Amino acid sequence: MADRVLVTGSLGQIGTELVLALRKHYGTQNVIASDLHDCCPEVLGDGPYERIDVMDTAKLAETVKKYSVNKIVNLAALLSAVAEDKPALAYQVNLGGLFNILELARETGCSVFTPSSIAAFGPSTPADQTPQTTIQRPNTMYGVTKVAGEILADYYHYKFNVDTRGVRFPGLISYAALPGGGTTDYAVHIYYEALKQKAYTSYIAAGTYMDMMYMPDALDAIINLMEADPSRLNHRNAYNVTAMSFEPEMLAAEIRKHIPDFKLDYDVDPVRQAIADSWPNSLDDQAARDDWDWNPKYDLSAMTTDMLAKLKEKGI
Ligand code: NAD
Ligand code: SER
Repeated sequence: MADRVLVTGSLGQIGTELVLALRKHYGTQNVIASDLHDCCPEVLGDGPYERIDVMDTAKLAETVKKYSVNKIVNLAALLSAVAEDKPALAYQVNLGGLFNILELARETGCSVFTPSSIAAFGPSTPADQTPQTTIQRPNTMYGVTKVAGEILADYYHYKFNVDTRGVRFPGLISYAALPGGGTTDYAVHIYYEALKQKAYTSYIAAGTYMDMMYMPDALDAIINLMEADPSRLNHRNAYNVTAMSFEPEMLAAEIRKHIPDFKLDYDVDPVRQAIADSWPNSLDDQAARDDWDWNPKYDLSAMTTDMLAKLKEKGI
């Protein structure tokens, strides 16, 4: 029987593109998009859509049964800056939602892919070339839910044999949907403002390095890990993955190769700066390269060329 995939939180930055990539891979009718909204936006309108709150266990179970789902990709979450503003809701959605998905997977035999984040690390983690296995004591609610989610998903694998898999994504940069309220969002907004204003005011300070990745590589990471031979997986929840590490001045210099008079200045937001300062400068993703052949295609230069071209096509 064909694989049937349910994607939660599918109208966000990743889901908007992932659903289309999964539909290419598994077949349009075999990928069920879902989110909190009543109806599906046009971009995902070619296949099934259900309104699902991940806190609603009955609706989750009904949907898995209705479509004979055997794989769940759980994207429903509050991102780092929003989670610092609404920590109780973030705890419920990010961790409670994942718990609901894992319980359903235990009952139905579904596999589960859920992304973790660089936020699963904290200020006491080695910041440079952060190892796959290291200290994880985050000091944000988002990070707490991410590290706890990794451990919970591991538990469901070894205790109940649920096929759980995940990656620790860095900041994702994309042109299709705007990011949902994270700390790394500046690295998306800067491209829009470079085209619109030839200027951007960054809320992240000069010299702040964070890992980043262009969305096409992130989509490949999800699909390749979902399809990876389980006997090769020495880690499950979650693999470090990265494509580049930069600070705002490096990004501005790359943009100036296309828009020479682009100006970058700063108005640092102390909340998001503190979050960024608690995260790694660069990840070591050798384990993902060894175990499932992770190999990103876009560096800062290739990403910048493509981002600016795609945003221009969109009329930005
Ligand atoms: P996003 O904020 O763009 O989208 C999240 C989606 O979840 C939204 O469409 C929202 O409506 C939905 N949602 C919120 N509460 C919900 C609920 N109770 N039930 C169902 N849906 C709900 O986020 P994203 O960037 O697409 O991230 C998806 C996942 O990837 C998250 O787990 C996030 O932590 C992780 N991640 C993202 C990045 C990134 O840079 N985008 C980096 C690391 C990890
Ligand atoms: N891009 C995400 C954030 O900033 C990282 O998980 O929240």
